[in-house]
Amino acid sequence: MKPFQISIDEKKIECFEGETLLWVALDNGIYIPNLCMTREMSEPYGACRLCYVEVESEDRPVTACTTKVREGLIVNTKGTKSLRLARTALELILSNHPVDCAHCLKSGSCELQKIAKYLRVKLKTKRFKKFLRDLPIDETSPVFIYNPNKCVLCGKCVWLGQEKLGARAIGFAYRGFQRWVTTFDNEPVGLSECGDRVELAEICPVGAFVARNKHNRKSRINEIGG
Ligand code: FES
Repeated sequence: MKPFQISIDEKKIECFEGETLLWVALDNGIYIPNLCMTREMSEPYGACRLCYVEVESEDRPVTACTTKVREGLIVNTKGTKSLRLARTALELILSNHPVDCAHCLKSGSCELQKIAKYLRVKLKTKRFKKFLRDLPIDETSPVFIYNPNKCVLCGKCVWLGQEKLGARAIGFAYRGFQRWVTTFDNEPVGLSECGDRVELAEICPVGAFVARNKHNRKSRINEIGG
C-alpha cells in the first residue's frame, strides 16, 4: 500500500489508507483529548465527544476517532470551534463526576485531569449544574475497587470485558442519568467472571475501577491500546 501525506497542525505526516485520524495524530506526537476509544476497537464508540478537530474540507468539526485519513487532509486540532465543543463535552462529564482528586487513588494518572489541563477547563467547573450519583462502592473484588459514581460511561471496561476477556459479566444498564456500568442482576462485581481481572482497572481512564495494588495503577492500559 502506498503512503500519502496529510497535514495536522501544519505538520506533514505520512500515513496509509484506512488509518484513523486520532491514532495518526497521537502516534506523531500531536495530542487530541479522548476517553472512549482504544486502538483495538473495531468500531469507535464515539461517546465522549472530546476528540473534535477541524478539517479544512468540512463545515463542522469532526470527531478524530471516527475519521479515516485521506490524501491531502488538512487538520487543525486547535481550532476555536472544535475546542469549544470539546470543552463543553468535558464540562458535561465533570458535572456528573465527583471531583475529589485529593482522595482519589487514580489522581495523577486520571485522564480527566490531563484533559482538563490541556483544554484549560477547571475540574470544579460550575458551568453546568452538578448531578452526582450516590451508588454503593463495590469492594468485593480482591484486585480492584469499583466506584460507579466516578464512571464517565466511556465504555472501555464493557468493551474489554466482552471483546478481550471473553466475559460478558459487565455491561450498561438503564438510560440517561440512570445509566451505569454494572453486572447482571447488579450482583457484586467481585463475584462475577470479571471479579479478578485487574485489566478493568487498567483500562478505566478515571477513578471508577481502581487497582488495589499500586503497581497496577501505574501500568496504564496504553500497552493494551488505550
Ligand atoms: S474518543 Fe472520539 S468520541 Fe471519544
